Amino acid sequence: MAQEYDVVIIGGGTGGYVAAIRASQLGLKTAIVENESLGGTCLHKGCIPSKALLRSAEVYQTIKKSEEFGVETEKPILNFNKVQQRKANIVDRLHKGVQHLMKKGKIDVYDGFGRILGPSIFSPLPGTVSVEMTDGSENEMLIPRNVIIATGSRTKSLPGLDIDGTYIVTSDEALEMEQLPSSIIIIGGGVIGIEWASMLADFGVEVTILEYAEQLLPAEDQEVSNELKRLFKKKNINVMTNAKVLSETLVKENGVAKISAEINGVSKEFFGEKILVAVGRAPNSSNIGLQNTDIELDNGYIKVNEYYQTNESHIYAIGDVIGGMQLAHTASHEGIKAVEHIAGENPSLLHYEYVPRCIYSNPEIASVGLTEKEAKEKGFKVKTGKFSFQAIGKALVFGEIDGFVKFVSDGETNDILGVHMIGPNVTDLISEAGLARVLDATPWEISQTVHPHPSLSEVMGEAALAVDGRAIHI
Ligand code: NAI
Repeated sequence: MAQEYDVVIIGGGTGGYVAAIRASQLGLKTAIVENESLGGTCLHKGCIPSKALLRSAEVYQTIKKSEEFGVETEKPILNFNKVQQRKANIVDRLHKGVQHLMKKGKIDVYDGFGRILGPSIFSPLPGTVSVEMTDGSENEMLIPRNVIIATGSRTKSLPGLDIDGTYIVTSDEALEMEQLPSSIIIIGGGVIGIEWASMLADFGVEVTILEYAEQLLPAEDQEVSNELKRLFKKKNINVMTNAKVLSETLVKENGVAKISAEINGVSKEFFGEKILVAVGRAPNSSNIGLQNTDIELDNGYIKVNEYYQTNESHIYAIGDVIGGMQLAHTASHEGIKAVEHIAGENPSLLHYEYVPRCIYSNPEIASVGLTEKEAKEKGFKVKTGKFSFQAIGKALVFGEIDGFVKFVSDGETNDILGVHMIGPNVTDLISEAGLARVLDATPWEISQTVHPHPSLSEVMGEAALAVDGRAIHI
């Protein structure tokens, strides 16, 4: 049977479901098509479950060092079954929350795989969505005025390293592990590699990272990356940068995977019970009927304009499938902007240089805007200010004194170009830097903001003062 809608959204991840809620708020008749679970990668295979595991690892570490706080305990015992159960409960609760929001917004949810059809008896324009229903019932035909493609991305591997779920895994399989391996090789020292390395090391797993680039987290500020490397070494993580993995050397036998990598031209062997491949994600743009449209792709990513319209102006695309910053909060903001544009609301544009990037390792890392190197390459006369957590009272009270906040600013206009952080709770502290960028604040204005004492946020005021050599507690 054919159903008409104002908006049909293909993909119910963070981008898709948030767009659906906004569409419903704007009075648009909305449907969402999802072939796995509402909430998508972020809720089921990404942000939420991985952060739940990271939190358990952190608690385990904190209890191990509880004597430092004057709290004596027996040696803590890690029950990984319960760790996994807690993670599943959190995901389940949030999943129910999203389902409830769909009902509340009177959004029709189709459990199935959506494909875009070309011009047909239903519409002279491409965009009718055919849904292959998960329960095997007859395909549903959805006839929308507008479509939003929010199909996200999937894990990928390297040639020669097929994911077998036992020796070679991606974050998808790793999240479902029933027991921890004694050792692991992580290929890729990007966001996923760093979070997993941190978590597994805190759980007591022997971790090696093989990163192809010169530094861990190649997109982040070099000083942050160097500090991370130092702190990871303190956790006994074996960090190898400039590492070219030689897939053809892979041997899997007797519960051990062996692989070689060329480190600065010298071949070296590495062993692990598992290999976790974390070398980026691939867009879900094939098999969704794009060949029936004029939509253009760039390396698999859907090309869109600043309002997320594809070449077919009534078909929009948002989130990981358009590339760029593959982050849940980026996707949801893109979704809201796309829907508001559909509704003729003339939304403001999303400024990607204001979007915070957060890594939930221990220590946490967060940043917004340009790194010092990027700012210099763009020709800015760069001024920086840096302040360590060591001199922040609340950090001492917390027992977390590693790390710092660094401002990168324009020496001529005093504009903030970037803020980079590593240390306790920086994934929350970064919001002040994000707001500063939206309000076009200068470091001086941040330093005039009264930060409560004692609080970790004092590091922001001090780092801002440090840009002009005026930090107090140094
Ligand atoms: P990524 O792009 O962050 O990192 C991939 C890393 O693998 C890079 O450092 C790259 O140099 C390295 N690499 C590539 N080929 C290699 C090879 N042959 N040998 C060794 N190293 C190699 O991708 P990642 O970590 O897989 O994450 C995927 C996406 O998911 C990212 O866009 C990320 O932003 C997002 N994500 C975000 C999170 C967050 O916001 N906290 C958490 C997890 C994922």
